[in-house]
Amino acid sequence: METQETTIEEQALIDAAAEVRRNAHVPYSGYRVGAAVMDEAGNIHTGCNVENAAFPVGTCAEANAIGSMVAAGGRRIVAIAAVGGKDAIEVCTPCGGCRQCILEFSDNETRIILIGEGGSINYYTIDELLPESFRLK
Ligand code: THU
Repeated sequence: METQETTIEEQALIDAAAEVRRNAHVPYSGYRVGAAVMDEAGNIHTGCNVENAAFPVGTCAEANAIGSMVAAGGRRIVAIAAVGGKDAIEVCTPCGGCRQCILEFSDNETRIILIGEGGSINYYTIDELLPESFRLK
């Protein structure tokens, strides 16, 4: 994990994640997550978590944002920001499944930006979050 200079584009990505977090459908956990992905063309795609009465059917914010990117034609994650928490913002590190989803469209230059308590901005690489990862050759 690193803290470093945040670019204007990255701040826009963080803002988009915080904005879409407001639309999260979380009647069961109350835990809202918003994610925003910047693709290789500089386009931003967002997603929030969408829970379901049949709990395992619920989907995560990061996976939904990546789905939006792919549907729009994006194929590489330049940066992804996630903002989560129940009442206040807390560090929301992606679940295991979302890490694998991020890996699919990432390389080690991909910036994974997680917002922590007090608004701290923390940077990770996919290799830090998912070491020894599975890829099909
Ligand atoms: N959640 C996400 O959206 N992303 C993650 O990476 C972690 C968990 C959601 C799933 C569920 O709706 C809520 O947070 C609580 O687990």
